[in-house]
Amino acid sequence: TKPKVFVARRIPEEGLNAIRAVCDVDVWPEQLPPSADELLRRVKDCDGLVSLLTDRVDARLLDAAPQLKVVSNFAVGFNNVDVPACTARGVCVGNTPGALTDATADIAVTLLLAAARRISESAADAKEGRWLTWEPLGWLGSDLAGRTLGIVGMGRIGFATAKRLHGGWGMTVLYTARGPKADADQALGATRVELDELLERSDFVSVHADLNPSTKGLFGAAQFKKMKRTSVFVNTSRGPLVDQSALAEALRSGTIFSAGLDVTDPEPLPTTHELYKLPNCTIVPHIASATIETRNAMARLCANNLLAGVRGEPLPNWVNPDVAEKRRK
Ligand code: GLV
Ligand code: GLV
Repeated sequence: TKPKVFVARRIPEEGLNAIRAVCDVDVWPEQLPPSADELLRRVKDCDGLVSLLTDRVDARLLDAAPQLKVVSNFAVGFNNVDVPACTARGVCVGNTPGALTDATADIAVTLLLAAARRISESAADAKEGRWLTWEPLGWLGSDLAGRTLGIVGMGRIGFATAKRLHGGWGMTVLYTARGPKADADQALGATRVELDELLERSDFVSVHADLNPSTKGLFGAAQFKKMKRTSVFVNTSRGPLVDQSALAEALRSGTIFSAGLDVTDPEPLPTTHELYKLPNCTIVPHIASATIETRNAMARLCANNLLAGVRGEPLPNWVNPDVAEKRRK
């Protein structure tokens, strides 16, 4: 009999078709995610699960699915998956790194430019009748050329973002990372520093760290105070790295100049949230990987992980390879 797989949302056809060729597939048809209880019901006799970052994969879900062999997350980030709980039960976890590096770096640069040049504010002013004339002192933003960029988390996406801004605008690159990054040092002349020094010296701060207990709330009032009053803050990683009340206060008081966010906490951010009321805050709805090419590539990687998982083969992008010895057959 074919392995049974639950796919927690519609994903690009080329990924789905690859899975359908081998498995008996149930696809969640709605726009909104299944509830936790619905997800649990759907996976209880499944061999594989394609999860999204909106689906919580925890011990309760795993205990309800005794046959589950693989959780293939349709994302590079996997903070929605309790990986130790999966490993403990012999369940493989896969993610989709690489596929969305360029698209995400593009959005980081887009937000950085938009926030530096007051694009959402000035576009709204034009549309709503506040464009009265060409103003020598109107809508003044800041230049990028030759300034200093701080990359918090110099992984694949941090590097791709820094490469664009170093190559295109000649920015000096500072970064934080758990260890030295020879690539960044050599190709971009980048310098690894402590977070405090990065915040003090950078004109632009772009966050690319993963969400884990040590990065949750990494940006609070103290961090925004260390930044320059002219600085621009961009987050394309995960919302909970930022204390949003502290960010709103920093933007309101002029502690920093502006911000661009692709991620918030929660998602969606309720329309009544104070951050939307600030003209110097640009928010887009977690669209960094949203290009046709990138979502197709993610679907392929996701299908490859899923299929390797149900076949008992090594996952091409394996989050918990330490499960290998004791994975479920
Ligand atoms: C998107 O946020 C991802 O982690 O792929
Ligand atoms: C602006 O439009 C300029 O010509 O300087």
